[in-house]
Amino acid sequence: KIVPVILAGGSGTRLWPISRDSLPKQFLPLSTSGGTLYQDTLQRVAPGDMFASPIIVTNDEFRFFAQRQAREIGIEPTVLLEPVRRDSAPALIAATLLAQQLHGEEAILLVLAADHVIGDTASFHDACGKALGAAGLGHIVTFGITPTEPRTSYGYIRRGAALNGGSAAQVEAFAEKPTAAVARDYVEAGYLWNSGNFLFPAHVMLEEAESFEPEIVEAVRRAVEGSKSDLGFCRLSADFHAAPSLSIDYAVLERTSRAAVVEGTFPWSDVGSWNAMREIGAADEKGNVQRGSVRVIDSVNSYVHSEGPLVAAIGVEGLSVVATGDAVLVMPSERSEEVKHLVASLKAER
Ligand code: GDD
Ligand code: MG
Repeated sequence: KIVPVILAGGSGTRLWPISRDSLPKQFLPLSTSGGTLYQDTLQRVAPGDMFASPIIVTNDEFRFFAQRQAREIGIEPTVLLEPVRRDSAPALIAATLLAQQLHGEEAILLVLAADHVIGDTASFHDACGKALGAAGLGHIVTFGITPTEPRTSYGYIRRGAALNGGSAAQVEAFAEKPTAAVARDYVEAGYLWNSGNFLFPAHVMLEEAESFEPEIVEAVRRAVEGSKSDLGFCRLSADFHAAPSLSIDYAVLERTSRAAVVEGTFPWSDVGSWNAMREIGAADEKGNVQRGSVRVIDSVNSYVHSEGPLVAAIGVEGLSVVATGDAVLVMPSERSEEVKHLVASLKAER
């Protein structure tokens, strides 16, 4: 069985003011099913014929969200706690070492972001099957998405030689978060977006991480060896502090020659902005998405969402309006990538 790992320790800034450091977007009820993105992710890899029980990696602050929201849908996960945030590489390596302890050296892992929307579970499972084939050949498998525009917030993948009769391909180059000009070239040249989910044999990931980032593996190995069970959580020891902060994309994917890619034909969104929320929401016939206590009249292509006061809009076009009990955001939807700069400047003033 594949061991699912959900990385759920990142903080959310791009969906401000609803997503905050203290309550990031994976744990918010943003799914059209009424649940949270984290719960949708758990359900996508629910224990059964294909998947073992999941490992969640998060931190103290989010541990009760992670546990309670899993129990709400009848899943009892292993929750691994980091004493400090060190980005995705140390978190992923910790889960890999733990998976080997629980399932043996040969464990195959599927590492998932906690906060993505995947529109077609059957097609996602089909891609996992193809990825399993490539992992059997000793690859770290990525899931590639056909780009719609040159976004700078993604990793880009150049496909090489076909593997397994064409169900996967070698990764010839992997470039994380390029500049806008480079991203344009990549889209033209037929690169794929990296979806941020990975399937791999545990030992292959550890060998690659060891060769590129021995300091991370060393610190994380100690933290796992020194970990303690605590009220149903598995708490990594303070040795984790010694791991440099780095994402797995920079730490391993950009440098390894053992990556492969399976094309994901499922609808995918990382819900990276309010504009993305509008795109995945249920729009009315004029393209408006309305959530919470709002009233929208004579408007087009707008996203209006309130978690607090009644919000009304008349005659607006292409606007995003998001209100909570203590903050209101108004902007043209196409500028929704700029929310992260706004949040950074608010933090700097604090
Ligand atoms: N446990 C834990 N600890 N999880 C973390 C940490 C951490 O310190 N930092 C990030 N994560 C989790 C996030 O919650 C998310 O589920 C996942 O790791 C990916 O982190 P992001 O911070 O969202 O990465 P990104 O969106 O900038 O980039 C990644 O995803 C893109 C697609 O959405 C990369 O893989 C890109 O290459 C990719 O295109
Ligand atoms: Mg992300």
